Amino acid sequence: MVEDIETILFHEQTILSRLDELAAQLTEDYRDKELTVVAVLNGSVMFLADLLRRIPLPLKIDALSVSSYHGGTESTGTVTFHQDKLPDIDGRHVLVLDDILDTGLTLHAICEKLRRECRPLSVECCVLLTKRKGRAAEAEAKYAGFEIGDEFVVGYGLDYDERYRNLPFVGVLRREVFGG
Ligand code: PRP
Repeated sequence: MVEDIETILFHEQTILSRLDELAAQLTEDYRDKELTVVAVLNGSVMFLADLLRRIPLPLKIDALSVSSYHGGTESTGTVTFHQDKLPDIDGRHVLVLDDILDTGLTLHAICEKLRRECRPLSVECCVLLTKRKGRAAEAEAKYAGFEIGDEFVVGYGLDYDERYRNLPFVGVLRREVFGG
């Protein structure tokens, strides 16, 4: 598995140090607010667990299962919601948590749907990684761990064809692996 990685971009300790900073900022911003964190499955699982353990607020956790990559390295352009029931966030401040902001299609579709159908007080996004590129859909992450280029990354929750999610670091996948 590790042999498929070309370069490690962020080691575990680097990620955790950055999460300390992000968590401190979020704790400050959401103090005295009714916060629900909505995790976007599956990619956000590591990020969710490590980040939220650093936030000593009485928050609630919910999750949404969506996908748009369907095993490939490029977004299909269609965001599929895998469940009918949306989080109960009426009158609450919402922080949508995802592993990566790439084309923006996923976060755009989620935020629009939550705002339109669930009556939250506010919706902001928090991502571990944000790609330095133009977006196909309007999406903004107020909170972001690291900015990266347009390389295909895996690890720490991010997958290629459902593999590599359990690597403890974020790295660039060798092109030979996905035929890129
Ligand atoms: C990936 C990733 C983000 C989204 C970002 O999800 O986890 O949710 O794509 O890309 P975008 O900004 O171009 O929409 P994927 O559909 O691969 O599902 P996964 O979380 O289960 O890996």
